Amino acid sequence: MGRATAVRFAELGYSCVVADIDEQSAKETLGMLQTPGIVVQVDVTMATSVEAMVTAAVKRFGRIDCAFNCAGTEGNLAKIADHPEEEFDRVMGVNAKGVWLCLKYEIAQMLQQEPVVSDPARWADKPDVCRFRGQRGSIVNASSRAGLGPMPNNSAYCASKWAVLGITETAAVEYAKDGIRVNAICPAATATPMLDRFKEKLPPDLRGSTGPGFHPVGRIAAPEEMAEAVCWLCSDACPFTTGEHLKISGGV
Ligand SMILES: NC(=O)c1ccc[n+]([C@@H]2O[C@H](COP(=O)([O-])OP(=O)(O)OC[C@H]3O[C@@H](n4cnc5c(N)ncnc54)[C@H](O)[C@@H]3O)[C@@H](O)[C@H]2O)c1
Repeated sequence: MGRATAVRFAELGYSCVVADIDEQSAKETLGMLQTPGIVVQVDVTMATSVEAMVTAAVKRFGRIDCAFNCAGTEGNLAKIADHPEEEFDRVMGVNAKGVWLCLKYEIAQMLQQEPVVSDPARWADKPDVCRFRGQRGSIVNASSRAGLGPMPNNSAYCASKWAVLGITETAAVEYAKDGIRVNAICPAATATPMLDRFKEKLPPDLRGSTGPGFHPVGRIAAPEEMAEAVCWLCSDACPFTTGEHLKISGGV
């Protein structure tokens, strides 16, 4: 999902920082981009690593206009009574604390930036009462359809994705007057390496829950469909949209 989003951002003309704990994968992504970019190896569970990622981005490009915080782990499956405590901490560490740390350092940087209107003509003739004066930055966090309901056998993942929505809404309110928007997407099954791993972990009788038949549209999503939504939420086409979560779930 992160790769597809970097590709879409580059198509739209953005320079990109491709950050991942898997440096090789990030390099492959960078090789797909037509605009300037850098790779940063980051572990989103570590503050020093996330801070260094933001420092590297600003050193190369001067500011951070948009961020998609989508590092994640699917976790291992078990009901709560059988779920190891360490596994809860690990999943929450990547999916929830990771998003929180990324926001912490991205927002600190964005607060130092001047607001920008990327398409002034679009907003020039709007009445003064609602005239849009630009944004310092716009951030999208990856929650999940599992952030909106129960997820049997995966309580840690479910908790982490509910947490992402709480963090998103809180950050959005805290920084609304600073011209920083924070939103989230809630995808259902999307064809990525995570989904492949997740399906392997499911007992055969539950695999249908990640398949086409589970989704009213009769298929799962392509990561490019998430990328499109992320780029729209990040852009200043929707400046009144903050603290939102966009469910992109084929109707489920
Ligand atoms: N694929 C789906 O069906 C689906 C559905 C709903 C939500 N999501 C969420 O969307 C996001 C993207 O998922 P995806 O399907 O692209 O997963 P993916 O496993 O294909 O990609 C996740 C990326 O996160 C990186 N990563 C993992 N731990 C990290 C860490 N500690 N620091 C930095 N990078 C780390 C991995 O190296 C990987 O490149 C995740 O947050 C996931 O929970 C996925």
